[in-house]
Amino acid sequence: MSTQLDTENKPVKKVTTHTLLKMKNAGEKISMITAYDYSFAGIMDGAGIDVILVGDSASNVMAGHETTVPITLDQMIYHAQSVIRAVQRCLVVVDLPFGTYQSNSDVALASAIRIMKESGAHSVKMEGGAEIIDSIKKIVQAGIPVMGHLGLTPQSIYKFGTYQLRAKDESEANKLRHDALVLQEAGCFAIVLEKIPAVLAKEVSESLSIPTIGIGAGPDCDGQVLVMHDMLGINTEFKPRFLRVYLNLHEQVTHAVQQYIKDVKTGDFPSSGESY
Ligand code: KIV
Repeated sequence: MSTQLDTENKPVKKVTTHTLLKMKNAGEKISMITAYDYSFAGIMDGAGIDVILVGDSASNVMAGHETTVPITLDQMIYHAQSVIRAVQRCLVVVDLPFGTYQSNSDVALASAIRIMKESGAHSVKMEGGAEIIDSIKKIVQAGIPVMGHLGLTPQSIYKFGTYQLRAKDESEANKLRHDALVLQEAGCFAIVLEKIPAVLAKEVSESLSIPTIGIGAGPDCDGQVLVMHDMLGINTEFKPRFLRVYLNLHEQVTHAVQQYIKDVKTGDFPSSGESY
């Protein structure tokens, strides 16, 4: 395996699951973002992100489906392969899509192995708690790092019926507290906490030795994750309270394309300097 060098010819210090644990212990927040293709993954990695999640949100933002349910294992592997080709430093986590791990632990392990072997990714993420614990254990025992995902778990949208805040009532909060400990015990290296009350996320984060990564879970998680299309302003209809939009890419791209159309129509493009 050749050593990758940075722009100053120094060996790249790769982020691993152990790095994330050290960051939690040092009180250093973990930055995570989604990416699904080579070009954006290269930008995210070059910008210094700690973790890229090849999320099954690709089903929504890349393929235009209403939910994350339809995306297939082959499609996730395709996105992960594209991301991995661009990455030098960050840890890459890939979502196991709906239907590839819920039936039994043998199926789950086979799905995780396909992701690792065919994409070269570094770890997988799975939605759920105690109900999928046998699968998580089997995958971890096979040497594949697993990130858990609790709270709002979009693959179960038809069970929940809405994308609203989870674990508001005490019985659901108690299940989440229990699930977090069970995931840690099963060997997960981190847990995503999605759309739960900030006080609960703080309590769970403090109770665990592994890092939590929040999305709509307040400031006291050990890290934060956002979907790139949301935070870059590509998606303009999705405006949950937890989202901070850093760029208005939809407007900027529209403006650039409109200018291009005008230049083509008026014959301004290409100029003599842009011709051979
Ligand atoms: O698929 C995804 O983008 C996710 C994040 C919302 C955590 O799971």
